[in-house]
Amino acid sequence: MRLRDRVAIVTGAASGNGRGIALRFAEEGAKIVVADLNLSGAEETVQMIKSRGSEAIAVQTDVTSAADIQRMVQAACDHFGHIDILVNNAGISPVGSVTEISEEEWDLVISVDLKSVFLGCKYTIPVMIERGGGSIINIAGTLGLQAAARKAAYCAAKAGVVNLTRQMAIDYGRDNIRINCICPGFVDTPLTASFSDEARRRLLARLPIPRVGQVEDIGNAAVYLASDEASYVTGLCLVVDGGQTLGIPAR
Ligand code: NAI
Repeated sequence: MRLRDRVAIVTGAASGNGRGIALRFAEEGAKIVVADLNLSGAEETVQMIKSRGSEAIAVQTDVTSAADIQRMVQAACDHFGHIDILVNNAGISPVGSVTEISEEEWDLVISVDLKSVFLGCKYTIPVMIERGGGSIINIAGTLGLQAAARKAAYCAAKAGVVNLTRQMAIDYGRDNIRINCICPGFVDTPLTASFSDEARRRLLARLPIPRVGQVEDIGNAAVYLASDEASYVTGLCLVVDGGQTLGIPAR
């Protein structure tokens, strides 16, 4: 087991990638704080973790709220004693160009997708420093590296996550805290369930590895970054996208 007895907080773990990461961590022996706005979904994830023989608690958390994040960190410490791993995963991905979206929509996406990473790190890093180190994994996306039509706020937020990851890796390396991000491509989750068959077909036709990503692909990448196998890896942007961003697609 690669994460035996490590304590991990995973935000947005009521669903999709967050749940996939939490379950893979649990299979590797970690104890999980399942943090999400959606409490019933979080409790479902907790039951799934327990059925795999590991421990977990659900903590209702709005990742845009400093008070909620502080409660989440406190709950982890009260229940499990410390925090070894933080995965800032919660996110939303609405459509809209800058002329289409309102100021409120812009603020919401920047809050959920970017400010959440700031808050999660701000309140977890001091606890990790006290413990002697830790691993933080931010879930960005290929749209943090490339732009896409009508995804203005999302592209801006995810690019922010990529560079904030690098910036924080510089600041906290000497505290033995590694900070990396994962850039998933197209992954089968509730977030992408609304994609039409035609859109899926077009996307698959462009992929060197012609299948849709699964949450286990993201979970496996997160296990690596969280584990001691990655002890010399920090500030990395690990792209898990079936080759989507490599260049001009094959004919
Ligand atoms: P999802 O919609 O299945 O899961 C997102 C989770 O975040 C939900 O459980 C939701 O309740 C939670 N959440 C939303 N707002 C929240 C808030 N304010 N506070 C706490 N929790 C909140 O979506 P998915 O696909 O699992 O996305 C997870 C992450 O992966 C996101 O950061 C997303 O941008 C990223 N990603 C997903 C890709 C995909 O193809 N599915 C591709 C690239 C990145």
